[in-house]
Amino acid sequence: MLFEKLISIIAVTASLMDGGMDVAMPDKNVDGTTFLINRQYVISENYVPEVRKTNLAGMSQSMREDAATALEELFAAAKSEASCSLSTVSGYRSYSKQSAIYNRKKASVGSVEKADEYVARPGASEHQLGLAMDIAKRNSSSLSSNFGNTSEGKWVFENAHRFGFIVRYLEGYEEITGYNFEPWHIRYVGKEHAQAIFEASIPMETYISAYKLDVYDYLIHKVTNEVQP
Ligand code: DAL
Ligand code: ZN
Repeated sequence: MLFEKLISIIAVTASLMDGGMDVAMPDKNVDGTTFLINRQYVISENYVPEVRKTNLAGMSQSMREDAATALEELFAAAKSEASCSLSTVSGYRSYSKQSAIYNRKKASVGSVEKADEYVARPGASEHQLGLAMDIAKRNSSSLSSNFGNTSEGKWVFENAHRFGFIVRYLEGYEEITGYNFEPWHIRYVGKEHAQAIFEASIPMETYISAYKLDVYDYLIHKVTNEVQP
């Protein structure tokens, strides 16, 4: 049975790679932590979550309460465990703010196709959920793929799941996520899901499909099961 489920997840991944994103069946609860939002699953311009300002270095940014508290813990651990100083760059963004960012990107890169690789269209951004934060090294506001090569970016990649976050747009999965690798963009999903997604090294789209297929039990518990007699 487990073998069949694993075959299913491989099929789901292949289908997602092939552009069939509708096989991912998202959580319908927009206020939950596993709500999937991407080019295909968009939210209303009227959706406005309850957010609060984060007490962190960087530009003043907001997130939903659970995500903000977890991010504060993540920043503190980065500092105490690895002397990594981080700062916030962009958290909650309203539909109209996302719209302005998208239009600015489109003007700077010169085409819709190119803009779509970097910035979500309004209604399609996790930032509107209040669960995403773009982060950078302290005293920097630049978001570049080089962040992934810095000690700060590496620490975030290896440890974000301990605080309930995932690096959402993974290298090598651009076909599934729809975006270029973004080592700076972390998304709150809660600790259990974040750990499972990290261990499995899969994009959220694939994970949500696996979750609906019950394969998530395997993804979450495989390490524990391996060490049990
Ligand atoms: N850069 C990500 C995809 C966003 O705009 O939400
Ligand atoms: Zn982002």
